[in-house]
Amino acid sequence: MKPKVFVTRKLPIEIIEKIKEVCDVSMWEEEEIPVPRNVLESQIQEVDGLFCLLTETIDKSLLDKAKNLKIISNMAVGYNNIDVEAATQRKIMVTNTPGVLTETTADLTFALLLATARRLIEASEYLRQGKWKTWSPMQLIGQDVFGATLGIIGMGRIGEAVARRAKGFDMKVLYYNRNRKPKAEQSLGVEYADLPELLQTSDFVCILTPYTPETRNLIGEKELKLMKKTAVLINTARGGIVDEEALFQALKKGEIWGAGLDVFEKEPVPVDHPLLTLPNVVALPHIGSASKKTRLRMANIAAENLIQGLQGKTPNNLVNPGIY
Ligand code: DGY
Repeated sequence: MKPKVFVTRKLPIEIIEKIKEVCDVSMWEEEEIPVPRNVLESQIQEVDGLFCLLTETIDKSLLDKAKNLKIISNMAVGYNNIDVEAATQRKIMVTNTPGVLTETTADLTFALLLATARRLIEASEYLRQGKWKTWSPMQLIGQDVFGATLGIIGMGRIGEAVARRAKGFDMKVLYYNRNRKPKAEQSLGVEYADLPELLQTSDFVCILTPYTPETRNLIGEKELKLMKKTAVLINTARGGIVDEEALFQALKKGEIWGAGLDVFEKEPVPVDHPLLTLPNVVALPHIGSASKKTRLRMANIAAENLIQGLQGKTPNNLVNPGIY
């Protein structure tokens, strides 16, 4: 008998076919609507494997309902949506999709940095709304990127990929990370700084660190006050790393100059969220890894992890080897 699998969102047909070769698959067929909790709760009781997205909260109460679950394959590099400790206690494998989305996410991070610094969204709206009457010396002026100082919080794969892009803009790159990265320091010429120093000296601060209990609200009122009045904050990691109320106040009072946000504490971010009322915020709907090639690769890797786990192998991207 084939193992049973539940897939929480419609996937490209080739990925479903691949999983179907070895598994008995049921799938939430919607593309734009996440699977309702009651459906997930009833499916989890039956299945051996779960293929899920970052939109699904896989917590203790859900795992308590699982009778046969062996693996949770998350189609994302981040897995803060999963209670990994609870899964490990129940000997359930958890996997993610690292590596394949590095360059695509770094592209988006840099695009967001440029768009925020040079007010691209605001400028485009200005033109479309018929406000462009003349060329004027002080019109829509932004911040220079070339030659500026970039502070990267979280020097993992994506942090390094952003640093490589920054070098093309002749930027000085500082980084803050749990551990020093001597190899990156050598090969990319990046310099380690502690968090206060990085915040005080950077023109652009990019958040690229995983979301954990330690990084929750890592950037709050105190940290924002350390930043330059001309600084731009970019977050393409997870919304909860920044205290959004403190960020709103800092932007409103002019304590920092702008923010580019691809992620929010609550997603989708409500359209009446205070941050969205500010002209100096560029907001995107969590599209860091959204290229056709990358999303297909992520789905493929998540499918491979799932199949490996269900075939009794150690999946390539197991995040909780503690189960063994
Ligand atoms: C991830 O993979 O964690 C991103 O946030 C979505 O691609």
